[in-house]
Amino acid sequence: MKALRYYGARDIRHESMEDPRLHSDRDAIVRMTGCSICGSDLHIWHGHGFSEDIGFCVGHEAVGEVVETGRAVTRVKVGDRVMVPAAVGCGACGPCLRGQVFACENNAMACYGLSSQLQGVQAEAFRVPAADMNAVPIPDGVSEDQALLLTDAMATAWFGARQADIRPGSSVAVIGLGPIGLMAVDAAWIMGAQVVYAIDPVAERRAIAAQGGAIALHPDAAADMIREATRGRKLDCVVEAVGSDATVDLALRLVTRRGTVSVIGVQQSRRYAFPLERAFGAGLTFRTGTCSVPEELPALFALVQAGRLRPERYITHHLPLSQGPDAYRRFDSREAGALKMVLIPD
Ligand SMILES: NC(=O)c1ccc[n+]([C@@H]2O[C@H](COP(=O)([O-])OP(=O)(O)OC[C@H]3O[C@@H](n4cnc5c(N)ncnc54)[C@H](O)[C@@H]3O)[C@@H](O)[C@H]2O)c1
Ligand SMILES: [Zn+2]
Ligand SMILES: [Zn+2]
Repeated sequence: MKALRYYGARDIRHESMEDPRLHSDRDAIVRMTGCSICGSDLHIWHGHGFSEDIGFCVGHEAVGEVVETGRAVTRVKVGDRVMVPAAVGCGACGPCLRGQVFACENNAMACYGLSSQLQGVQAEAFRVPAADMNAVPIPDGVSEDQALLLTDAMATAWFGARQADIRPGSSVAVIGLGPIGLMAVDAAWIMGAQVVYAIDPVAERRAIAAQGGAIALHPDAAADMIREATRGRKLDCVVEAVGSDATVDLALRLVTRRGTVSVIGVQQSRRYAFPLERAFGAGLTFRTGTCSVPEELPALFALVQAGRLRPERYITHHLPLSQGPDAYRRFDSREAGALKMVLIPD
C-alpha cells in the first residue's frame, strides 16, 4: 500500500509500505477513506517529533471502512464505517471504560503516527488495536468529514474549553486560531461565553473568528487591548492552542484573579519558567494535557447531530494522499485559504 512516511525535518514522503496486518485477535484493519493533518503533525514535520524513529507512517486522524477483524472483535464488523480516535486504549481497564484512554493502565500514551510503535493513519489502510474500543462506528446524522474532525481536533478544542471552566457569562480568550483554536472559539460560544477574544498573527484566521462575533486581536496588541477593554480586570478563562512559551506567558497575563488557564497546544519546552508566585498570589487554576477523545464524543455527537456545531466548515481542502507532502507544506506555511487539510485515497 501507499503511506506518508517520515524521514526527517520537512521530509515526509508518499511511498510504498508493507500492508497492515492483525497483531492480535482483538485488532481490525481499516481502509482509509479520509485522514487529516493536525498541528501536532506539524511538530513532526518540523523535526521536533515525539521519537527518534525514521520511516514510520504519520497521522492520527482518520475515518474509514473496516475490511478485516480478528476473531475476538464483536462490536465492529467488516463493512462498518468507523472513526478512529487519535490515541488508543486497551478497552478493558477502569480508565478506558470511562473513556479516559490517556490514563489507560496497559497502553499508556499510544497514539497513531508518532513513532514506529503504532503506525499512523495517513495511509491507504491501517491497523486498529483493540478495535471494539478504538474503532467507533460513525453515528447517523454525523458525516464522514464531521467524524474525521471529532477524531482529535474538535474533541481537543472542546476539552480545552471545558478545562478552561467556561460558564454562561464568562469572558474568554483563545490564543492561536489554527483549526483547533477556531473550534475552541465555537465551543466557548456554545458553553455560554459573554465575550470571546480571538488572538492570532494571521489576519485571515482572525477574520474567521470575527465573523462569528469574536473580538479579533493580533498577539502583540492583545494584552494592552484586553487590559483596557476590561478596565484592568482581565478575563475569566484563557485557552492556549499554539504550543510555545510566549503564548503560555500571554495566557497567564490575560487571566484575572481566580481565573483559569487551559493549555492544549503541545509544548516543546523542557524547562518553562512557570511564574508560580504570581499564580499563587492570583489564585489561578492552570490545566494542561492531552485530550481523551472518547470521553468527549457523547456531547460532541449530540451537538453535531443537532446542527449546533459544524467543525467541517474549517476543512478547506480535500486532496489525494499522494499530494500529502505538499499539503503539509501548505498547512505549515499558513498559505492563504489553507486550514484543515483532508487527504483522501488517490
Ligand atoms: N492537547 C491535545 O490533546 C492536542 C491535540 C491535537 C493538537 N494539539 C496541539 O494544538 C495546537 C494547534 O493545532 P492546530 O491543528 O490548530 O494547528 P496550528 O498548529 O496550525 O495552529 C497554531 C496557530 O497558532 C498561531 N500562532 C502562532 N504563533 C502565535 C502567537 N504568538 N500568538 C497567537 N497565535 C499564534 C498560528 O498562526 C496558527 O494559526 C498544536 O500545538 C497541536 O500540537 C493538542
Ligand atoms: Zn491531531
Ligand atoms: Zn486501558
